Amino acid sequence: MENIVWHPHKVSKEARSNLKSQKPCLIWFTGLSGSGKSTVANAVDDLLHERGYHTYVLDGDNVRHRLNKDLGFSDSDRVENIRRIGEVSNLLVDAGLIVLSAFISPFTSDRRMVRDMLPEGEFIEVFINTPLEVCEQRDPKGLYQKARAGEIKNFTGIDSGYDVPENPEIVINTAEMCLKECAQMVLDYLVEKKLLQKSGLNIQSA
Ligand code: ADX
Repeated sequence: MENIVWHPHKVSKEARSNLKSQKPCLIWFTGLSGSGKSTVANAVDDLLHERGYHTYVLDGDNVRHRLNKDLGFSDSDRVENIRRIGEVSNLLVDAGLIVLSAFISPFTSDRRMVRDMLPEGEFIEVFINTPLEVCEQRDPKGLYQKARAGEIKNFTGIDSGYDVPENPEIVINTAEMCLKECAQMVLDYLVEKKLLQKSGLNIQSA
């Protein structure tokens, strides 16, 4: 970082989020492929958007088409994937948004790294705890079948590891609840933590 000096922003994060009458945060969805991370993140996004919140969704498949198209699925590429996404998410939170990021993010250390980028209370880890058998049965992209056949290497849950989150703020098993209930669980948490108080309008559950 020699010869590079951090340029401070004149407009603060607080000023940016005040303009939107919202509290910014990062809702981080982690879980196996096919567990329902992006589906739940998008359902929460819909609920928040309907209620007038300025949000943004980042998800693994989309980000890997563009920003991270140079990365694969080796351990070191996954670490770099999450590092970049963490930085991008943090910038969007700094811009005052409620950010929903859905990535397998299999390693505890990487999720911790992203958590540590944000002030206390602004990182909300949602563990989509759908059992591997269910994810594999769903196999929406046919990737588990390919992984079992040895056509894809380093597939999470098959021949690549996943560290179960130790202290996530929210745990959701999409095999036991419908999508509406899953999304509502996240919304209820945000209400409970007083993160959804738009100019006097305190959103209640359901
Ligand atoms: S992460 O492990 O680096 O966090 P990320 O969430 O970005 O993964 O991307 C996961 C998506 O990539 C999966 O939903 C799946 O569609 C696809 N994919 C392709 N190959 C693999 C693989 N070897 N392991 C896991 N997911 C893979």
